[in-house]
Amino acid sequence: MTEATKNLSKEKLAEIAPPPMAMLAELTHRCPLACPYCSNPLELKQASQELSTEEWISAFQQAANMGVLHLHLSGGEPASRRDLVELTKAAVDCGLYTNLITSGIGINEARLEELANAGLDHVQLSLQGVDHEKADLVAGYKGGLDRKLQLAEWVHKTGIPLTVNAVCHRSNMDDVPAMIELAQRLGARRLEVATVQFHGWAIKNRTQLMPTKEQVLATTETVEQARKDLEGKLVIDYVPADYYATHPKACMGGWARIGLNIDPTGLVLPCHAAETIPHLKFENVRNTSLHDIWYHSDTFNAFRGTDWMQEPCKSCDRKLVDFGGCRCQAMAIAGDATATDPACHRSPLKSKMLELASEQASIEDGFIYRGR
Ligand code: SF4
Ligand code: FES
Repeated sequence: MTEATKNLSKEKLAEIAPPPMAMLAELTHRCPLACPYCSNPLELKQASQELSTEEWISAFQQAANMGVLHLHLSGGEPASRRDLVELTKAAVDCGLYTNLITSGIGINEARLEELANAGLDHVQLSLQGVDHEKADLVAGYKGGLDRKLQLAEWVHKTGIPLTVNAVCHRSNMDDVPAMIELAQRLGARRLEVATVQFHGWAIKNRTQLMPTKEQVLATTETVEQARKDLEGKLVIDYVPADYYATHPKACMGGWARIGLNIDPTGLVLPCHAAETIPHLKFENVRNTSLHDIWYHSDTFNAFRGTDWMQEPCKSCDRKLVDFGGCRCQAMAIAGDATATDPACHRSPLKSKMLELASEQASIEDGFIYRGR
């Protein structure tokens, strides 16, 4: 914990760090699927280490008191938690907008109705493929597609808005047009086409997942056209592949600016992959308040503002647009979390990153699944 911010007034604290808007609660790492693109860590947290119902509810109350508006209930598969309905109700009672991020496995119609009665605001359903063979291959699970389609129908019946989320990579990127069609058939209001990010387990499958530059360009064109054609009917969010782009993405909207994550054991993280930055220490909501972690922890303050930046970010006119890109990607590729994200065209490592991506996109070596 840093002492520097401890005695500042509420107004001064808000200047350094506005209150968080969103919180991702990774309720559990347990999951029936074995997606090769999983960004959860190689070593998953065990069920016995998970926060209890009461501990999660306390975290939700603290988040709401700090000004968090959106709560994403995620995993693993959040439906693996028996107390999912209770947790959802508690979050709704705190005034949080609740979004359930699910694979669709483990939720039957009765349970969905209970969630709807608890006040669940939104469902985000993952899609691994548009045909059975591809969906089974990419989920590492047999028969998932039919259960997802069934869940989408039930969600539609409850009136809860639905977003379909498709992580795209070399094996399914050519199916993006079919995914757009399927999302419409399922009555989704939004489709998120998110190009795979290489964190956690996904790194093990980097060669098989890496899309080609041609695929990425074609997907960008497809999405742009569909956005025009489907205006007012389907919103498409698109996370393009930054390794082939000119500028990096503003990862998490900037470090500790907008949101925070809590892992299944209560560790509070500024982003999903923050534990890959070796010098950072993480506090646990079991023994430190969310307020203190957000405003005073060294880790949350590590890359706030622009003082930590090196050149070329330091003097760049985009430094408040993309905040120097992703700290975890800088760590992974440049070996320095304060370096310019190598996805940026101004990074000295950009050409190396491009070469690596092209080389990896040419290798066919099959998926590696967890636990097999
Ligand atoms: Fe963003 Fe830094 Fe690249 Fe400028 S130099 S565009 S701030 S990553
Ligand atoms: Fe950690 Fe991007 S994933 S900053």
